[in-house]
Amino acid sequence: MRLDKYISKALGVSRKVAKELIRQGRVWIDGKVIKKADFKVSPNAKVVIDGEELELKEKIYLMLYKPKGYLSTTEREADYPSFLDLLPEYEHLKPFAAGRLDVDAEGFLLVTNDGLFAHRITHPRWGVSKTYEVVLEKPLSSEDIAKLLRGEVKIGGKPIKVKEIKPLEENRVLLTLTEGKYHIVKRLFRSLGNKVLYLKRVAIGGVTLDPSLREGEYRELTEEEVKKLKRLVKLE
Ligand code: URA
Repeated sequence: MRLDKYISKALGVSRKVAKELIRQGRVWIDGKVIKKADFKVSPNAKVVIDGEELELKEKIYLMLYKPKGYLSTTEREADYPSFLDLLPEYEHLKPFAAGRLDVDAEGFLLVTNDGLFAHRITHPRWGVSKTYEVVLEKPLSSEDIAKLLRGEVKIGGKPIKVKEIKPLEENRVLLTLTEGKYHIVKRLFRSLGNKVLYLKRVAIGGVTLDPSLREGEYRELTEEEVKKLKRLVKLE
């Protein structure tokens, strides 16, 4: 993040005031005076103003391409590594995943430390869509697709709303749901006598996993992407 933006967020002042503080030579980063407003502050930099360390309770919104074999929980004592191991420079900001992905699933993990935002993104009331690329053991018949779209496939006796289903190949579909439940995609296809062999989340709320990210890589969401998601859950 740019230094002027960092200071404006940490102190709750305008960018103009932040720039002035920087110009006056009152801002130190990791022991050096920094006079450039566009200086890039690394996430674990020590930023000091007038001798006092700033603590930026910065809200983060990251798009992580979670690989298979990683947990989307923050526990460390489990059999698998946590996604946190892929973002060591953000760990001090206490991130968590807004919507889990199974250990054998991959794709878009929305990582944030904004509790209200995460709650709304995952709560069925807000109906934020999640799109999955799914490879199945058997081809999906047009009858199965119709049943899914009519909401006739149930999990635990409750019909599941499927927003969209797009066949890509015989055994490969793009499935969009507006609710999240434990193992929802796997259970949905199990109810149809099929089996999920591969599962990748490719979009959340219309924000698509960046194709330039490789497994294990991440980037910050752009301002537009954050706005788009926040608008969906009435936080903008
Ligand atoms: N549905 C599943 O079955 N697993 C996931 O990880 C996400 C949705």
